[in-house]
Amino acid sequence: MKATLLSSLILCSALASPLSVQAEEGGMTEAGRQIFNHHCTACHSLEPSKNSFGPNLIGVVNRKAASMPRFAYSEAMKKSGITWDEDNLRKWISDNEALVPGTRMRHVSITDKAEQDYLISFLRSLK
Ligand code: HEC
Repeated sequence: MKATLLSSLILCSALASPLSVQAEEGGMTEAGRQIFNHHCTACHSLEPSKNSFGPNLIGVVNRKAASMPRFAYSEAMKKSGITWDEDNLRKWISDNEALVPGTRMRHVSITDKAEQDYLISFLRSLK
């Protein structure tokens, strides 16, 4: 009885921190949506197959780079040969100009591992 009380107290205090609350089911994707709204929506539309200043990102996870029709990619992006797997997405959002020198996308630098996880989780949910 005593032990149960103690372990539930420990559990409660662990859950009380904002990060672990956000990380609960779907919370990661939701946190990613907020990061996306803050850093990416200015140039990337969430409407299906609509390009804006940047190419549409629906279904981008595991898509080949520069494969959206009717979008004027940079030569650098067309020649990159990249597939947007998780590893490349992580590199892209932490320093896009290092991954594809000469890209037209403005520099972004999301280096926090948890923020990258949230953002990638959100990108995965875009289908
Ligand atoms: C200032 C506008 C701008 C912002 C802000 C921006 N992007 Fe981009 N993004 C672009 C442009 C332009 C391209 C095309 C780059 C090229 O052709 O070199 C691009 C390309 C991409 C691609 C490659 C897509 C493909 O079809 O190959 C991904 C992935 C991407 N952006 C993700 C993001 C994410 C995630 C964020 C937020 C952290 C973000 N972008 C913020 C303008 C932007």
